[in-house]
Amino acid sequence: MAQFPTNFLWGGATAANQCEGGYNEGGRGLANVDVVPFGEDRFPVASGRMKMLTCDDAHEYPSHEAVDLYHHYKEDIRLFGEIGFKCYRMSIAWTRILPNGDDDTPNEAGLAFYDSVFDECHKYGIEPLVTICHFDTPIALIRKYGGWKDRRMVNAYLKYCAVIFNRYKNKVRYWLTFNEINMLLHMPFIGAGVYFEEGENPEQIKYTAAHHELVASAKAVKLAHEIMPDCMVGCMLAAGQYYPYTCNPLDVQAAMEADRDNYFLIDAQVYGEYPVWALKRMERAGVRIDCTAEDRRVMKEGVVDFVSFSYYSSRTTSADPEVLAHQSQGGNAVFATVNNPYLDESEWGWQIDPVGLRITMNSLYDRYRKPLFIVENGLGANDTVEPDGSIHDPYRIAYLRAHIEEMKKAVLEDGLPLLGYTMWGPIDLVSNGTGEMKKRYGFIYVDKQNDGSGTLERRRKDSFYWYKKVIASNGEDL
Ligand code: BG6
Repeated sequence: MAQFPTNFLWGGATAANQCEGGYNEGGRGLANVDVVPFGEDRFPVASGRMKMLTCDDAHEYPSHEAVDLYHHYKEDIRLFGEIGFKCYRMSIAWTRILPNGDDDTPNEAGLAFYDSVFDECHKYGIEPLVTICHFDTPIALIRKYGGWKDRRMVNAYLKYCAVIFNRYKNKVRYWLTFNEINMLLHMPFIGAGVYFEEGENPEQIKYTAAHHELVASAKAVKLAHEIMPDCMVGCMLAAGQYYPYTCNPLDVQAAMEADRDNYFLIDAQVYGEYPVWALKRMERAGVRIDCTAEDRRVMKEGVVDFVSFSYYSSRTTSADPEVLAHQSQGGNAVFATVNNPYLDESEWGWQIDPVGLRITMNSLYDRYRKPLFIVENGLGANDTVEPDGSIHDPYRIAYLRAHIEEMKKAVLEDGLPLLGYTMWGPIDLVSNGTGEMKKRYGFIYVDKQNDGSGTLERRRKDSFYWYKKVIASNGEDL
């Protein structure tokens, strides 16, 4: 029986703003992610429909303390080591390094913090995989430029990249330029720090911001290779194959187009150019991208080394407006999807489709022929702490087991090159979609509740011991 490669990177993934806390400590500057509140205003702010550039007393911001990894990272990374992680995907908070986004002198306290985080990882033989930008845009740059809709963001990002590449070149080998780059089309303030003023064309603003991120990503790839010849830099997609609701050719066409819309930004990162159909579609929508000859050259020079993605669910769509009218918003109102009657769903309404992971992986590989990396996959659920302090989470184990089984088929039966698997949220953290604590993903429970109460004590759930066994057997013992 064929086996997983021995250097397969098993691990877990987090994002700075969802677990670190310490949002105003150590000289850290304010970022968009700090001002997106918990509660009913979250989606309007995250999607750029409601302008909010500061925090106020009328709202709550659980991410400000989150699970306080900022002060607990040694304990947390020790626990990751105990599980047997080979890889820890994490993000650097841009404003810990450059508090205003483009400072001439970086913040030494922020640099030293990540030095220590990487040192802890290496102590346990854990390879860091770093997301350069996981939804964070410095507020100072949003005030100055209006976020990524302004081309000057490219230079600010490159300045930040140069600092972290030079500082961590001997500690970090794997990098991702932007988390879920396609998210900016759905949540533009979260994805690109942009919001819409009266009379602005949101489509124009979103695609302009996306173009600037693509140019920045390509320049970052080139710079990374110059500074760290052995490094690998990837793109990152919020993935999930679209299924046609029926075999009506119009539904099939609708699903193909939905996939294309989802893929086109990473198409540009992999091939160094926009797909022709995307240019046509923008033209029809009256969107004009200022893609200069220089941009075209830069994009060709900075293609990514691998394709990483998050996968939580497949999606279903239709050409029939009646069917679409009943589509759900997938729990967090980001990716609308028609309910697929063959699938169960999580407590947050996300449909569960392990086979869809294998289908998605094959689609990505057919399209790109680059090594893949699953950098997010997991189940957000309510957990109960028993009177004796134990936490039984068979639902999480079942979800992960089923997905890992399909991932194994994609590797062992379909032959796809896969660098690793970092499940989402090995330690409970603040939800990006809802901003709450009770949507828990972790193997490690953190005593922190929605109302902000809790001791921050860490506890091992049943899934902690299960994943340890999975890694120790290199995926054999599921
Ligand atoms: C991905 C993001 O979209 O999904 C993460 O990269 C996020 O930041 C994860 O946390 C899970 O989503 P949620 O809404 O359950 O936190």
